[in-house]
Amino acid sequence: MDLSDLRGKYLGQIGDAADEASLEAVRVAALGKKGEVSLKMRELGKMTPEERQTAGPALNALKDELNNAIAAGKASLADAALAERLKTEWLDVTLSPRPTQQGSIHPVSQVTEEVTAIFGELGFGVKEGPQIETDWYNFDALNIPAEHPTRTEMDTFYMKRGEGDDRPPHVLRTHTSPVQIRGMLNDGAPARFICPGRVYRADYDQTHTPMFHQLEGLAIDKDISMANLKWCLEEFCRAFFEVEGIELRFRASHFPFTEPSAEVDIRCSWGGGQLKIGAGDDWMEILGSGMIHPKVLQAGGIDPDQWQGFAFGMGIDRLAMLKYGIPDLRAFFDSDLRWLKHYGFAALDVPTAHGGLSA
Ligand code: PHE
Repeated sequence: MDLSDLRGKYLGQIGDAADEASLEAVRVAALGKKGEVSLKMRELGKMTPEERQTAGPALNALKDELNNAIAAGKASLADAALAERLKTEWLDVTLSPRPTQQGSIHPVSQVTEEVTAIFGELGFGVKEGPQIETDWYNFDALNIPAEHPTRTEMDTFYMKRGEGDDRPPHVLRTHTSPVQIRGMLNDGAPARFICPGRVYRADYDQTHTPMFHQLEGLAIDKDISMANLKWCLEEFCRAFFEVEGIELRFRASHFPFTEPSAEVDIRCSWGGGQLKIGAGDDWMEILGSGMIHPKVLQAGGIDPDQWQGFAFGMGIDRLAMLKYGIPDLRAFFDSDLRWLKHYGFAALDVPTAHGGLSA
């Protein structure tokens, strides 16, 4: 039996096959149930033993050779398909990302990061507290008793208790000062931390929104004084505003939770309707501060005969408006993409005190 014609024919077809389907068609034609090679195998039964001794192995060898050629053909077709796909799907991982097109960091987030970086350098940790508070944390513990005018001055949002529950209502915290109390009760003295976060007051105009952001800070130790407070805030403002010659003015004031209390103004000018920090004849209030009232230390579980400390609170949004010249607070919370594009910060520029804050 001469198999060389069969061999030549099918190896040729396998070599010509351009895809897996045609390879499969060749396999069926040669090696399928009714394939040409399979039919030849059936003829072996009719042969004499001598004929069978040569024809059998020859047919088996042909069958194996064709099977191997088909498998190799399938593998190389798959390789070629993969290579073709990779050609169209290549990706240059050395290309830089495109953060400005992907989104930007909101000025409130940016300023929070900047402020945290600066106070971090000064040794302050960061604490957070709940936005829904009990009136004890928001008021009583801060030396603001029930009938104190501050409770109404702060335009508090009260929240209804459940039916039949006549405990005092929860409030949306009107300032970050309740986190002072939580920090003291948790960690005791000495203490040094800041608390950034959202606060709420029923108020709405160019410089007030019902939700805004504050930054609280406090330091408690055996010998903390107003001098430490002053140095700390001056150091902060110098670093934050990134302007030479920052000048602060401490003005006597009153808060129930500090004694003595001071409001801090920063020197500025309003030339041509444009606010400039660091020079000029105007003063702009930027924060409230003072020595923590003994009753507040007590509410925080700290002995006022042994410890004393300072505290301050400022508006993060207001800092952002001042530093970046943003005129209307309401726009901060409009989620207008054009505004965010204009005032936003590149996503990968993380502010650090040494690497630059707003560079
Ligand atoms: N809690 C005050 C406010 O919201 C700010 C403040 C904090 C003042 C700490 C003094 C000390 O206006």
